[in-house]
Amino acid sequence: MKPKLNIAMIGYQFMGRAHSNAWRQVGRIFDPPYEPVMKVICGRNEEPLKRAAERYGWQEYSTDWEDAVRRKDIDVVDICTPGDSHMPIAVAAAEAKKTVFCEKPLANSLAEAEKMLDAVKRASCIHMLCHNYRRAPAVMIAKQLIDDGQIGEIYHYRGSYLQDWIVDPDFPRVWRLEKARAGSGALGDLVSHTADLSRFLVGEITEVAGFLKTFITERPLPGSKSKAPVDVDDAAISLVKFENGAVGTIEASRFALGHKNHLRFEINGSKGSIVFDLERLNELQLYIEEGPNGGFKTILATDAKHPYIDAWWPPGHIIGYEHTFIHTVLDLLKAIADQKLPTPNFEDGVRNQRVLDAVERASISAKWERV
Ligand SMILES: NC(=O)c1ccc[n+]([C@@H]2O[C@H](COP(=O)([O-])OP(=O)(O)OC[C@H]3O[C@@H](n4cnc5c(N)ncnc54)[C@H](O)[C@@H]3O)[C@@H](O)[C@H]2O)c1
Repeated sequence: MKPKLNIAMIGYQFMGRAHSNAWRQVGRIFDPPYEPVMKVICGRNEEPLKRAAERYGWQEYSTDWEDAVRRKDIDVVDICTPGDSHMPIAVAAAEAKKTVFCEKPLANSLAEAEKMLDAVKRASCIHMLCHNYRRAPAVMIAKQLIDDGQIGEIYHYRGSYLQDWIVDPDFPRVWRLEKARAGSGALGDLVSHTADLSRFLVGEITEVAGFLKTFITERPLPGSKSKAPVDVDDAAISLVKFENGAVGTIEASRFALGHKNHLRFEINGSKGSIVFDLERLNELQLYIEEGPNGGFKTILATDAKHPYIDAWWPPGHIIGYEHTFIHTVLDLLKAIADQKLPTPNFEDGVRNQRVLDAVERASISAKWERV
């Protein structure tokens, strides 16, 4: 019998569903050091919360997260709520000495992110930030190729994250379009992911130029005809300089018609290039300089030798979006067993937030800003 770890998860919609699936599946596919027990799911509205608890398989539900995160029988607090509640939940969980697992972006502001890092450091607890795309096998292969020097010295990172779900001006002003709840728009939601991948693959960003744009400045409130202002960015565009001399662009938009969840990066080095596109999650494009007839080749990241794949299916039997969350919680469980900090953690979250903060400053100053 494996030791058990009791989980309390706050938030039960999109990420609540993805994380519930990950906690449920991880021990069925992998051999983690603990059996995660889906103890209590938290939210504010009892009826939908109760339905979510039944559907996802949580033992209990609670409309009082403050009580849940302090319970003696809870080991891990999993935060799947909008950014405005990340800081209070994470700080309370750290003070109660729990492992804290938090959705991205770490917080709505740099000051909040720093408070969260301070709290987990003071409590000496394990903490992790859910930038799940790091754990797509094709992205891990890109990391290995870069670390092995196969791409050579890196010159460019070209990252974009494009969606199109709010092009309709009548799309309601949901929480993602409200600064007080989301902190920012495409910047915190989308740039945070591609900036995290750039830090993971290329290195630290030291300086940025950039600007933020809101195309539709007011929208109807959900279920109502009255309008409210949109005070977050619809698109965020930035130029970035890395500590190691590489340069790059990072662009994110919710107004890129035709692109649903198009996270793409291209890395060009002195010996080769790599291209990844989340909508082709199992593939990595690789070009290694090898004479006039060499072109990009496609690595299908489904061989047993590829990261995480030996536990899944035979070669060519592809995996999907939800698997990246399963890989993330697997590595969190291993980190807890080893009492080592997993990555990305709240330190990464703060560094990421510094990049977002610098892009916001650059958008106002119209100058290069230091991170
Ligand atoms: N890793 C990823 O790829 C990814 C994808 C989508 C969202 N996210 C992040 O996950 C987080 C949640 O986003 P989502 O898409 O799941 O949002 P959502 O709107 O689908 O769900 C939010 C949940 O939080 C609950 N909630 C909101 N405020 C609360 C509060 N004060 N107390 C308790 N519960 C509260 C809501 O009831 C709901 O269940 C955000 O930080 C978002 O940026 C990450």
